[in-house]
Amino acid sequence: MSNQQNKGAYLTGAKVRPFEVSTHPLPQLKDNEVLIKNEAVALNPVDWKVQRSGYIVNKFPNVLGYDLAGTIIEIGPNQSRNDLKVGDRVLAFTTQLVTQDPRQGAYQQFVAALSIGVSKIPDETSFESASTIGLAISTAVHGLYYSNYLNIPRPSADSKPLGQTILIWGGASSVGSYAIQLASQSGLKVVTTASKKHNEYLTSLGASAVLDYSSPTVVEDLKKLGPYEYAFDAIAEHGTTKKIAEILQPKGAKVAVTLDVSDELPENVKASRVGAAYVLDGGEINNWLFKEYIPNALKNGKLIPNVVQLESGGIEGIQAALDSFADKGVSGKKIVLRPFE
Ligand SMILES: NC(=O)c1ccc[n+]([C@@H]2O[C@H](COP(=O)([O-])OP(=O)(O)OC[C@H]3O[C@@H](n4cnc5c(N)ncnc54)[C@H](OP(=O)(O)O)[C@@H]3O)[C@@H](O)[C@H]2O)c1
Repeated sequence: MSNQQNKGAYLTGAKVRPFEVSTHPLPQLKDNEVLIKNEAVALNPVDWKVQRSGYIVNKFPNVLGYDLAGTIIEIGPNQSRNDLKVGDRVLAFTTQLVTQDPRQGAYQQFVAALSIGVSKIPDETSFESASTIGLAISTAVHGLYYSNYLNIPRPSADSKPLGQTILIWGGASSVGSYAIQLASQSGLKVVTTASKKHNEYLTSLGASAVLDYSSPTVVEDLKKLGPYEYAFDAIAEHGTTKKIAEILQPKGAKVAVTLDVSDELPENVKASRVGAAYVLDGGEINNWLFKEYIPNALKNGKLIPNVVQLESGGIEGIQAALDSFADKGVSGKKIVLRPFE
């Protein structure tokens, strides 16, 4: 391993495109890190938003990318996760957005990942499917289960129907599709919005009703399926939160939202912006999600990873894949690069 080089796609400055592909020595591991040989990388909207807008990341050169799957090839010192070992197949949600440490970005062959964002994955789960999970499920978990957000009970063997309903706007998004699965496993009835073609898919994930968000009567139609005790806005753009607020009247409710909300909302609707990286706090929910829920729910078929749109361009192809994502978007799929070399 000593002369092994690490090829990566480097962001060389704010708003600079394309990434510069170059090789560097393997990272030296620090406390609580594991070295992962990267097999698959999934793209999230934040990747292109960071590159195009120049926000969040201000240290250069840097390596972006927050979702990957691969194999552990080295365990770092002072490890809090004694369940991880060399040879484990894993997914990782990287902490790079918080630490800005280029060794932790996903867009490279070997990634020094903090073990609090690592889950073991069963043999039946492909690397490409696994790579779609970490950031998006953490976003859903933050909104649904943290006490200052919706504070819903987490799924467990004893979960029973709670007799309550959640409205999840944007069920076909990556975040929305994980939120549907978690909320329904917690015992909530889930009503969601998506374009018509995703009806069957989202019902199979646990939604009781899927309404077309482009329908001119969507607000009245959703209102008839209420009342809602909770709402999760996985889109939070183009006035979606305002529509949710209208649907929640007259009672109001808390709404977890994925972006800052500029809509003016009535007083009885409290919208709070979630943050995926807050789940990487080393706390109880963090442990539950990465050590228990993800591996077990993948194994027993309760957690269905996003549908993958596979791109084969590897590290050299990441810029083109990211540009296509930014310019054309996706519909009910997650873009994944595999192999990633
Ligand atoms: N705060 C955080 O920590 C955090 C974390 C993750 C994501 N985010 C943000 O959350 C948003 C979603 O991220 P993602 O990765 O889940 O997105 P994504 O998978 O790329 O979202 C694509 C989906 O959005 C759906 N959609 C678009 N406009 C819609 C609308 N007006 N109503 C309902 N559905 C709509 C589309 O549904 P159809 O196919 O049915 O048209 C499409 O399938 C992004 O803005 C992202 O930056 C924030």
